[in-house]
Parts: sequence; structure tokens; C-alpha cells
Amino acid sequence: MAISRRSLLAASASAPLIMTSGPARAASASIQIHSRRHRGAIDRKIFGNFIEHLGRCITGGLFDEGSPLSDKRGFRTDVMTAVKEMNVPFLRWPGGNFASNYNWMDGIGPRDKRPARLEMAWGTVEDNRFGTHEFMDYIEKVGAEPYICLNLGTGTWVEAQQWIEYVNGTQNTAVVQMRKKNGRDKPWKVKYWGLGNEMDGYWQMGHRSASDYGAFALEAAKLAKLTDPEVQLIAAGASNFRPGSDWIAWNRTVLDYLKDYADYISLHLYVGNAANDYADFVASPIEMDQKIETLAGLIDAAMSNRVERLTGAPNRDGKKIYIALDEWNVWYRARGSSQRGRRILEEHYNLEDALVVAGFLNSLVNHADVVKMANLAQLVNVIAPIFTNDKGLFLQTIYYPLQLFSRNVKGNSLELLMDGPSYKTKRFDKVPYLDASASINGGDLVINVVNRHQDQAVDAVISLEDKSFAGAVSVAEVNGPDIKAENDFGKTLVATRNSSVNASGASLTYNFPPHSYTQLKARLA
Ligand code: AHR
Repeated sequence: MAISRRSLLAASASAPLIMTSGPARAASASIQIHSRRHRGAIDRKIFGNFIEHLGRCITGGLFDEGSPLSDKRGFRTDVMTAVKEMNVPFLRWPGGNFASNYNWMDGIGPRDKRPARLEMAWGTVEDNRFGTHEFMDYIEKVGAEPYICLNLGTGTWVEAQQWIEYVNGTQNTAVVQMRKKNGRDKPWKVKYWGLGNEMDGYWQMGHRSASDYGAFALEAAKLAKLTDPEVQLIAAGASNFRPGSDWIAWNRTVLDYLKDYADYISLHLYVGNAANDYADFVASPIEMDQKIETLAGLIDAAMSNRVERLTGAPNRDGKKIYIALDEWNVWYRARGSSQRGRRILEEHYNLEDALVVAGFLNSLVNHADVVKMANLAQLVNVIAPIFTNDKGLFLQTIYYPLQLFSRNVKGNSLELLMDGPSYKTKRFDKVPYLDASASINGGDLVINVVNRHQDQAVDAVISLEDKSFAGAVSVAEVNGPDIKAENDFGKTLVATRNSSVNASGASLTYNFPPHSYTQLKARLA
């Protein structure tokens, strides 16, 4: 039986800080690992990303026709290299809020003949030069799996259904012929389709009440599965956590409508540090833990109440709905930023943001049993790990934890037994200084540890309950001179630094430096 990570943390004693002379060092912590205490299989899709027609994410970011840095299709090759090196396995498109006023038919056919349309989500004009074919070409080039979000805002059932038919259809229909005429003979077979974006938000074009959305999305979902029974659908869960918005009620209602058709329900989470309270900000992953666990409970409640339509038997087919954290990130400085009247949302990240991102990734791995997809918002320029200008790019601080997790965290997530010093913040009574996750893949163990302490290192005794360390442990540390350190063009203050330590026997004591994220990769015997 899985033991809740939160209950383990709550059970652990809060050790007082020990001040020492010399380099400051907090009390030591312990991390106990059993290679068979699995939390769940880690789905690679949790390391996904997201591109939206917004600011310089697509146009002027990864797609820059006419740039000497772009290939024949208009894709920036330097950006593509950075995307591949970050190992992005899964990519969501075309929005976001943009999706709710997007007609996919505007984005097909010869580029020069595509219509320019008023884009109301971000207050601009969409030239439609990047559409379905461009997205699918990009997907093939970077080796990711695609996820397309349907327009259930201003769009109709027929538009949604025909988009799926255009992309996946095999029969000789007018829609499939149109795809062939546009140069693509074989269907792309896109499996993941979103049933709208943030439909609970008053800001969303086509925003509806939970029951109006549930009823509308249910019919769209039926049409989707009738068009292609292989598609997997993501229901729009709650994203509006403002006081007064009842996100629990939204999810309950939507799950009731869609429990026979949805395969995932989305959750969005953005956090920020407007109050400049480092200790509280770096504890934000606890909010992600709480939201995931609450939504998982709502899914369990909905599914326990599910009966098969024909037989009336309770959930006999064992259908499951998983959580899709299909937008998450740090986002607060550039909430309203614009350039020449156009919203751009260009956030410049520092080390504390990278620690929050690493903590969020820990949370996703620690909930691998219920979270099966997630997409950092977004990939390029717009609240993004990759930042470009017309001459090149730089990698933001948050790029490095994303890359390390996506490259190395595989297999099964492990339930850790942890103990160690903790602290109290404005939002949380008990925040462990060390936040961790671990994965096991055959004999390869990967441990991810964030030391949230701003100026003290924490020693941790890592003990293996059923295995031994078999020699060299590779160490990758993301850190920088201080918590506000940022990267820029020609300046890299925060990056991954690699080293190694030797370990044998069942335990390893490691000293985690202040304000750091460390990934340890060990071979077990
Ligand atoms: O990622 C930026 C925006 O945040 C998305 O368009 C929207 O879905 C969310 O509110």
C-alpha cells in the first residue's frame, strides 16, 4: 500500500537548526530508500512542454521565417538544438487561451494564402503561418509526442471533430482528401486531445458554467472517440484558484459529466514571489502536492460512483482518469508585460525560480501514480527556459532542472522515508529544508534533492534498505552565487555542474549546499 508522502513528512520530527563555526551547516537529515517501495510508474509525458501562439513563443521564437538561423521551414535551428538537449518528450499546442479562439482551418494550405485573424486572447493579429502541418513537422524534428488542445470556447463540435479527422483520418473523406492535397498522405495519429483550455476561467473566450461545459465537452468527446477510438482526451479541470471560485465544485461537476469519456483531467498551477519571501516561495511545491492530492481524491470519488451505462455495474472496466498538469511554472513578474501593444510575458528567471521548478518536478515524480502528463508553460521566450534574440539564445536558470529530470528520471517513482530539519512560513506550518524524489530503473537509482536553506548546507544520510551502492555516484548540481542570480546573453551564473563521489555499502552521506538542486545517479548492487 502506498504511504502518503505528506503523512511521512508530518510524522518526522522537526530538528532544530544547529549552528556551527566554519561553513554554516544545518542539522542532518536522513533519506531511506527501498528499491521496491514503488509509488508508481513514471510516465515520460510528465516532462512535457507547451507552445502557444503568444508573444515570441512560436513566431519570432522557435519559428522565425527569414532569420539566418532558421531552416527552410522557418524553424530556428539553435532553438531546436536547445529543445532536443532539454529532452522534451511531449508538446502541447496551440494554447492556452489562444486555443479558445483558434479555427484550425485557418492554419492549413499554402502559407501565403492563409487568412490573418483577430487574436483576442492576447490582443493581436494571428497570421496563421504556423498551423497543424508546421506543428507536426516540428514535433517530428524534435522527437516529441504531440498533444493538441481543441477549441471548446468559440469553436463548434464539427470544427473539433473535423480537426481530429484531418489529423488522424484514414478513410476517403473530403476532410482527409484536404490533408492529402496539403501534402500529407499518411495520418499523423495524434493520440492526445484537450477538451478546451481553462474553461472555468472568466477570462476564457467561451467560458461556461461547469455544467454547461460538462454537457458541451461530453458531446465533443463522443464525436472525438467516434472519429478515432484511439484518442485520449483531457478534460479541462479547474485553473481558477482565486478566492470565491469553487475549484472543487468545478472538478466534481466536470468529472460527473465526463467520467465515461475523459482519460485525464487538467490542473494548472502558476506561482510567484511578489512578496519577495524566499522561504515561503521555495515551499510552493507543497501547494502542488496539496492540489494534486485533492484532485486525485475528487477523481476517486467520481469513479467510485461510476456505473456502466448498459449494465449498471459499478466501474467494472476499471476505467481510470489521470491528472494532466498541463500548465505549470513560476509566473508573476511578466503577468501583464507587453511590447508594441502585444502581450509578451517574458519572465527572466533566477536561481530561486529554478529551485521551485526542481521542487515541482519532485512533486510530479512523487505523484507518479496519479499524474501521468504535465507540461511546463512554456518552451521559448514566453515564461520559458529558452530565451532568444535575433542573434542567438541563452538558457534560463529553469532549463537545467528540466533537463536533468527529463534525461535521467525513469522507471518507477520511489516512496522515500525522510526526516530532517524544517521551518515555518506564511503559508505552511512545516516545510522540510530538504525536498526529494527518487526513481529506480533496473539497477539505476536517481535521487533529486532540493536544499531550500538559503545559507546553510544540510548533511543527509542516504541509506539503502535492500541494496548497496556499487561505486561511482554521478553528481549534477544546479546552483549559483546567490538566490537572485540570473543568466543572460553571454552570462551564465546558474547552470549544472558535474562531479562524482564514491559510495559502497548501504549508505552515503552527502552534503547538500545552500540553495541548491542536486541530482545523484547511482548504480545499485
Ligand atoms: O501560459 C500562459 C496562459 O496561462 C495560458 O494561455 C492560459 O491557459 C493560462 O492562463
